[in-house]
Amino acid sequence: MTEIINIAHRGASGIYPENSMLAFKKAIEMGCGGLEVDVQLSSDGEVVIFHDKKLQRVTNGEGLVCEHSYAELKKLEITNNNQANQYPKQQIVTLKELLQMLQENEIFLNIELKNIYIDYPGLEEKVYELLKEYEMIERVVISSFNHHSLQRFAQISEEVDLGIIYLANLIDPIAYAESLDFKLRSFHPLYSTLDEKRVEKMKKAGYDIFTYTVNDKIDIKKVSNLDVDGIISDYPDRL
Ligand code: G3P
Ligand code: MG
Repeated sequence: MTEIINIAHRGASGIYPENSMLAFKKAIEMGCGGLEVDVQLSSDGEVVIFHDKKLQRVTNGEGLVCEHSYAELKKLEITNNNQANQYPKQQIVTLKELLQMLQENEIFLNIELKNIYIDYPGLEEKVYELLKEYEMIERVVISSFNHHSLQRFAQISEEVDLGIIYLANLIDPIAYAESLDFKLRSFHPLYSTLDEKRVEKMKKAGYDIFTYTVNDKIDIKKVSNLDVDGIISDYPDRL
């Protein structure tokens, strides 16, 4: 069995404001080996780390992320967590800021292109350019529910590892992966779709498995007994 990477989902988002610098730094302090972050584009083309297409659940702003400029987004506060007011004000983080912070360590990074509802033109190029600038290509996997976007990424560069995220309990994910005209490193399945046999098949076929979002202690225990490569959790402290 390979050593399982403990991947903090949107940082240590079970406790701290999601996708904030505080959540990323706290996850690292908790001993995580990786971070999972969602990226989108501001109206003026900055790669920002944000999960929802709309601002309201997570911040004191309103409307679509993509309708706001970088400067407007930076003025907002991330307020989604119950205890958000206990912490210093957290702003939306740019991918650039995160990559700068990660220069200090060797943390693995799973960047999820959050372009399933809004397919941002140019997101793939921008992410690729930033990864090159910060020499991060070796320790990153790019994932998405939008497999067309991964295909575009592969057309830009074959250097970066790619993984498909999926929710459905696919009958044959390997046949699907092998039908694509680009190479995948990994499957990112919902944890409840996995069992020993399915995992064994995927591993035998040469794929890594990064499974999401495993929060309950019982589920963490079950999934930890499978031969997966990474467990994505809001609670890296529980792993
Ligand atoms: O990357 C795995 C997981 O984050 C996908 O779902 O909605 O939490 O971004 P979501
Ligand atoms: Mg995500």
